[in-house]
Amino acid sequence: MPPRAAKAINSKEEARSLAAPRAGSGEKDEPNLFTGNAATQVLDLAAATDEALAAGNVIVHGDAQRAVAAFPSSFVNTVITSPPYFGQRDYEAPGQIGREATPDAYIHKLVGIFREVRRTLRDDGTLWLNIGDKYDGGELLGLPWRVALALVEDGWRLRSDIIWHKPNAMPHSVKTRPTPDHEYVFFLSKNAKYYYDADSIREPHTTFSENSKMRGGRGHFGKRGGTPETGKNSGNSNLHDARWDQYFHPLGRNKRTVWSVALGKFRGAHFAVFPEKLIAPCIQAGSPKGGLVLDPFFGSGTTGLVALNSGRRFIGVELNRDYCDIARSRLIR
Ligand SMILES: C[S@@+](CC[C@H](N)C(=O)[O-])C[C@H]1O[C@@H](n2cnc3c(N)ncnc32)[C@H](O)[C@@H]1O
Repeated sequence: MPPRAAKAINSKEEARSLAAPRAGSGEKDEPNLFTGNAATQVLDLAAATDEALAAGNVIVHGDAQRAVAAFPSSFVNTVITSPPYFGQRDYEAPGQIGREATPDAYIHKLVGIFREVRRTLRDDGTLWLNIGDKYDGGELLGLPWRVALALVEDGWRLRSDIIWHKPNAMPHSVKTRPTPDHEYVFFLSKNAKYYYDADSIREPHTTFSENSKMRGGRGHFGKRGGTPETGKNSGNSNLHDARWDQYFHPLGRNKRTVWSVALGKFRGAHFAVFPEKLIAPCIQAGSPKGGLVLDPFFGSGTTGLVALNSGRRFIGVELNRDYCDIARSRLIR
């Protein structure tokens, strides 16, 4: 463990005010009511006290493995992150992930980092992992699934393989196979029981609504504002849970696993930014209001931005000092 420096947060009141929910919904690509968090600070690992981490809204400058290994246990609600993809980009920092000699070395390194990440999670904590693939000599390496299965082997529980469909994906010159326009977001949990707020991210019903003229439409509701139980099929055993959820739940149907989200506008000086709309559902379903979200590969701080916009707190870890500063300036606006 590195030495701990003087407290960065001076009082419980200060910690509480840092933890206070921010305005905004997190649904917009560009912040709407976002007021920033002027207290967001970039700390070296030695200055990242347990109190500062627990208060949240800090960017820790350092290597993900070393930093997260020095964090306390069982205090984070959910982790949302996109590690560097294998053999893709140079993030101009010694010790960066993604420059390993082989895919196996890359996977091994990630599994080690996410083992420490799992320790920092509360018992009901979860991980949302966005990861892209790589072609080598025209052959797809299948890295996202290889990483996901290696994580399961290491003790994680895999809950969902979400397909991030990119409607505005870059065109490709390739003519010997389809042009890729998706990536994965794996949803994993630390334990068998975990926090997941399905109602917060429901999506519109596609088949039946109160206004529907189709069989199964308004008649099912009895009268406007009614429910299927009060409609013509009241008492029908067919209205079991799944059917209710599928067609009639007043907040919409349960979120599906294909998420179509366009690449966002923010580029800044960082070139691998994930869209705010991609991770807003992860934050909403993965943590309660006021909860703590960790991103060990913080980049330009998108996870922090959406966390603040959604009334959560964040901890980011980033190896490249320039990116820490970019993220901070994005978060204090
Ligand atoms: C794909 S980018 C993350 C982008 C981020 N999601 C965003 O929206 O801006 C991966 C980031 O991981 C950082 N990184 C690479 N190796 C690292 C390491 N060993 N520890 C911490 N951060 C690292 C890179 O500098 C880069 O900013």
